Amino acid sequence: MFTKLFLSSLGVVALQSSLGLAAPSAQKPQAVDTSTLNGHFFVGYQAWFRKPHEDNGNSHWTTDLPTPEVGHVGVDTIPDVTGYPKECLFDTPFIKPNGKAAQFYTNDCEGVVDLHFKMMRDYGISGAFLQRFYGYINEANGGWEKILRYSKTAAEKYGRGFVIEYDLNGAATSSTNVTATYLADLAALSDIIASKAYMRHNGKPVIEIWGMGIVSSVTAADGIAIVTALKRAGYYVILGVQQAWHAELVEDRTGYGAVFKLADMLQPWTVGSYNNDNYQGFHDGRQAVEDKNALRELGIASSVVVWPGGSNANSNPGSSFDPNSRAHGDFYRKQLAGAVDLKPTFIFGAMFDENNEGTAIYPILHTKDLPTNQRFLGIDDDMAADSYLTMAGGAAAKLAAAWA
Ligand SMILES: *[C@@H]1O[C@H](CO)[C@@H](O)[C@H](O)[C@H]1NC(C)=O
Repeated sequence: MFTKLFLSSLGVVALQSSLGLAAPSAQKPQAVDTSTLNGHFFVGYQAWFRKPHEDNGNSHWTTDLPTPEVGHVGVDTIPDVTGYPKECLFDTPFIKPNGKAAQFYTNDCEGVVDLHFKMMRDYGISGAFLQRFYGYINEANGGWEKILRYSKTAAEKYGRGFVIEYDLNGAATSSTNVTATYLADLAALSDIIASKAYMRHNGKPVIEIWGMGIVSSVTAADGIAIVTALKRAGYYVILGVQQAWHAELVEDRTGYGAVFKLADMLQPWTVGSYNNDNYQGFHDGRQAVEDKNALRELGIASSVVVWPGGSNANSNPGSSFDPNSRAHGDFYRKQLAGAVDLKPTFIFGAMFDENNEGTAIYPILHTKDLPTNQRFLGIDDDMAADSYLTMAGGAAAKLAAAWA
């Protein structure tokens, strides 16, 4: 049940660039201002890479088998686990050129969450939007809630912000009352939302709901009920919507336009919507003119999504393996510049840790270190493992300066 699916297939475009390696920012970032979303750069945090065991129904390392095995792995990229606590790692059957087993981490180990938030601090990223899937809310062992609590602790420790982002995947109006589920969940998590690290905007705690109009099992009528109830309960509501949200609103084919209009902020989901070749046209037309004018007219704030390129062939054998979509960092660099230029309320980096679709910006293995007994995608050998974090941090500083 991958949520942040590519919404269209990407062409394979091989491009070379003369991207240089940027040095990490010299000064230690201050604790972020959690009273406003203005000028921030947040990452989406899946946090769903748990070691498979009997108590743990949703490890995203695997596809159809209880353990990662050759031919049955759900990721295209492999994290570089340098610096991860040893007790949080486990060996896989994927053998690196040096003869050693590649290791995966388990996300329900507190040291992993701590390290991830430390990385956000070290690179000047404001914090994380934690993905909360419908199925996690009533998970029997509360495994994901443990990760949410570790995130709260780590965000407080490193002076980062965090937000709960509900992902509508797994919800269906026909079989569940989504509004009631969310209101009950938020009430149960009130101590988490009371954290000084929990993001607020206009004095209200922030909630994002991803997939409105994308997850069609949640109807437009139900969408109106959900957003109305959350706003009435005092939340600032961001909706993650289709990139063509404005056309949907104008043409009014499905009724979701009425839901979009209720949002405090819209975040059009652009992963898979363009590639390195046609991004600039998308930015100059869709984002800078159509979306911007429409949002201004509606009085709705905006968040712009950026992603480094991706590939999801192992999790989805029907998809193409896409070794060139990152274009040596050029694709991400262009989008970061384009996003800063739009001056949205905040930039959303998709994603911090998404290995299933190969959009992770945290360190992943270099191409030369990839296991040889299954096909994976690496970061280019001549780029530093933390290049994408460094680029994200650079854009974060620029957007913050634009809002200062
Ligand atoms: C769903 O739950 C909400 C909140 O408790 C309630 O107001 C609403 O009437 C319920 N909807 C249905 C269709 O039962």
